[in-house]
Amino acid sequence: LRISIYIGTSLDGFIADSNGGLNWLDAFADEEALQAYEEFLRSVDVHVIGRGTFEKVSTFPEWPYRKPVFLLSSTVKHLPGSYNEKIILLSMKPNELLKYLSEKGYASINIDGGKVIQSFLKEDAVETMILSKVPLLLGSGTPLFVNGGALLRFRHIRTRVFSSGLVQSHYERLKRKTTVYG
Ligand SMILES: NC(=O)c1ccc[n+]([C@@H]2O[C@H](COP(=O)([O-])OP(=O)(O)OC[C@H]3O[C@@H](n4cnc5c(N)ncnc54)[C@H](OP(=O)(O)O)[C@@H]3O)[C@@H](O)[C@H]2O)c1
Repeated sequence: LRISIYIGTSLDGFIADSNGGLNWLDAFADEEALQAYEEFLRSVDVHVIGRGTFEKVSTFPEWPYRKPVFLLSSTVKHLPGSYNEKIILLSMKPNELLKYLSEKGYASINIDGGKVIQSFLKEDAVETMILSKVPLLLGSGTPLFVNGGALLRFRHIRTRVFSSGLVQSHYERLKRKTTVYG
C-alpha cells in the first residue's frame, strides 16, 4: 500500500484559516499548481477524507476528487442521495481501514484532512508527503501537525519552486515498520 498526503499549508503550518476557509490558497492555484495536482490525482486509487474536509469540499462548485472517496465519520450516518455514487461512508480506525482498502485491491491511497492525517501519522502509516507551502502566515487555523506525535524520519525526494512562490516538497518515509496490512 502507498499511503500519501498532498496538502497545501501556510508558512506557519496551517491547512485552513480560523474560519475553516481556503481562500488564501486561491492565488496559488495557477496552471502549474493545477497540473501538479492532476498528476498526483492520477497516481492515486482512492481518497480517504475526514468529516471536516467533506463539509468543506461539499461547498466547492466542482467535486475535487476523481477516484472513489471513503469518508470517515462516527457522527454522519447518512449522506444526501447525490453523494451515493461518489462517497462510501465508514467509521474505522486507520489500520482497520487500510486492511479493508488493501483487501479491496486498492494500492495507492490519499489521506485528506488535518485530524485524519494526524491519526494516520500516529500509526506511522503515512509513506509519502507532498507539502505545498505558500508564502504567507495565517497566524491561526487548522494545523497540519500537532504537538504530541512520535519522531518520524522522512527522506527528501525533491522540491519544486513554482513561479507563484509556492514551494512543493516531496518526502518519503524512511524505514517503515511492519504493519498488519502489508
Ligand atoms: N490546505 C489543504 O490542502 C486542505 C486539504 C484538506 C482539507 N483542508 C481543510 O482542513 C479542514 C478539515 O480538517 P480537520 O482537521 O478539521 O478535519 P478532518 O480531518 O477532515 O475531519 C476530522 C473528522 O473526521 C472524522 N474521523 C473519522 N475517523 C477519523 C480518524 N481516524 N481520524 C480523524 N478523524 C476521523 C471525525 O468526525 P466525526 O466527529 O464525524 O466522527 C473527525 O472530527 C477543512 O477546513 C478543510 O478545508 C485543507
